[in-house]
Amino acid sequence: MQEFIQAIESAIVEATGLEAGSFSLEKPRKAELGDFAFPCFLLAKRDKGNPAKIAGELAGKLNEALDGIEAIATGPYLNFKVDRGDLARSILNGVLSAGEAYGNSEVGQGKTVVIDLSSPNIAKPMSVGHLRSTVIGAAIQRLHDALGYKTVGINHIGDWGSQFGKLVAAVDRWGDTVDLEGDPIKSLLALYVRYHEEEENDPVLQAAGRAAFQELESGVDGHVRAVWRKLTQLSMEEFNRTYARLNVSFDEVRGEAFYEDYLEPTIQRIVDAGITEESEGALIVSLKEFGENVPPCLLRKSDGTTLYATRDMAAVFHRYELYHFHRCLYVVGGDQRLHFQQLKYVLQRMGLDWEDRVEHVAFGMMRLPEGKMSTRKGQVVFLEDVLDRAAEEAGKIIAEKNPDLEGAAEIAEQVGVGAVIFNDLKRERVKDIEFVWSEVLSFEGDTGPYVQYTHARLASILRKSEAGALEGTPDYAALAESAPLLLALGQFPGVLEKAADRAEPSELTQYLLGLAREINSWIAANRVLGQEPGVTTARLQLVDAARIVLARGLSLLGVAAPDSM
Ligand code: ARG
Repeated sequence: MQEFIQAIESAIVEATGLEAGSFSLEKPRKAELGDFAFPCFLLAKRDKGNPAKIAGELAGKLNEALDGIEAIATGPYLNFKVDRGDLARSILNGVLSAGEAYGNSEVGQGKTVVIDLSSPNIAKPMSVGHLRSTVIGAAIQRLHDALGYKTVGINHIGDWGSQFGKLVAAVDRWGDTVDLEGDPIKSLLALYVRYHEEEENDPVLQAAGRAAFQELESGVDGHVRAVWRKLTQLSMEEFNRTYARLNVSFDEVRGEAFYEDYLEPTIQRIVDAGITEESEGALIVSLKEFGENVPPCLLRKSDGTTLYATRDMAAVFHRYELYHFHRCLYVVGGDQRLHFQQLKYVLQRMGLDWEDRVEHVAFGMMRLPEGKMSTRKGQVVFLEDVLDRAAEEAGKIIAEKNPDLEGAAEIAEQVGVGAVIFNDLKRERVKDIEFVWSEVLSFEGDTGPYVQYTHARLASILRKSEAGALEGTPDYAALAESAPLLLALGQFPGVLEKAADRAEPSELTQYLLGLAREINSWIAANRVLGQEPGVTTARLQLVDAARIVLARGLSLLGVAAPDSM
């Protein structure tokens, strides 16, 4: 498709003297108008003319210059229509020759993109909230991978902080009342909740919690550290089970504790930059210059302990030194907006010119019908349970719709998990999500199963076709009415670029939903099998190309594309 766009753009440059790259083609308002549109407003402004008149004049010139592409003036727009045979040949050859690699490119030129994703806190269940970071972050990483960036996915596990002192104190006091080994996360959660219930009226417990964190930070390798290490290990085992189900892995798992040795040098570096102050015994960086209401960044508390922000400062320096990143993305909920703004402000005050490569990729909250989640109150929805239920519900639907399906259990897992992932990536990430079971799993609505089902439908047509039918000589004229679908397939590479640039997987989910709708109405209107051989071949090629794009799109999102369901 790129070849048509290039031909049109250079003809416009030639005819108008506009600079290449100073304009871009649009999609016409209606498919009947043409395949690409060039609005003439800019030109009218430059030449102080009437856009409709300019479009009319330009149409004549361009029709002479272009071969196989018709230019049609429609009001202030100049629309272009590619010869139907050329369009089909070009797009189908492009997709089918690239196969699963269709859409991949080298636009990233090997530049490094660091992605901080998932990053749950140990000793707590991975919440549905962390699901968002995992799923969005992994999709953003795959998108960059496809575009020739070098990516580093880092799981910044929350394994450090005053809460672990509290937890060690709670384990010491009540550890034998729970089944730590058998059911670690639920046990630790119970202890955490109990600590918070009792600490208010129990100064001894409070002191023990504080002392334990101080000991942890002091670096002493004694009892406290041993308990902490155990908690980390038990939690990671649980998290890894969930990651396996989501098919996500990380290049680095570097918890906050990893930066222990970097904390002092980091603080020193910020002090040396001359921007720190003492305030009530604490070490801070004032951020008042960015607004009266911007609170300072706290680097060290008066009791000598460091904070979440200190560890993130250490981490960002470590990442920059190690990778000289082109982008450093933090896929973290919108509730931490201030934290990342502060991090960037500190970098700015230090005069570091790479500050603008650091981006907070924020996302909204996920609300479950069960209500708002709060770990402290013990009101959590376990991600494992959500995935289990999704797979179970998918299993029921499959049993009803396709009772003889082979490998039904595995497919139910793919559909259930896929539905949860797709639902998470469906809307712009900053929007909050209301998780409604019936909406997530439907095979018909705007859902993952709908896209998976469309893919399986295409796979089934290909399975039923006669051997060799796909390799015959295609009669592309049979695809004259299929231009909208062909053009949609041609847009795929551009969609991937936009989704990666904006760190916005919903660009891809929305595209796939639109494509699936387009495909389903095409199938309803076009018989594929049992036509004239050339017609069947052309239509089968289109089916195969559409199947490839759906499968590739789903896989970039982390969703499986089973061949039947
Ligand atoms: N563990 C944190 C939380 O659950 C998220 C960490 C995000 N990454 C980071 N570098 N701060 O809230």
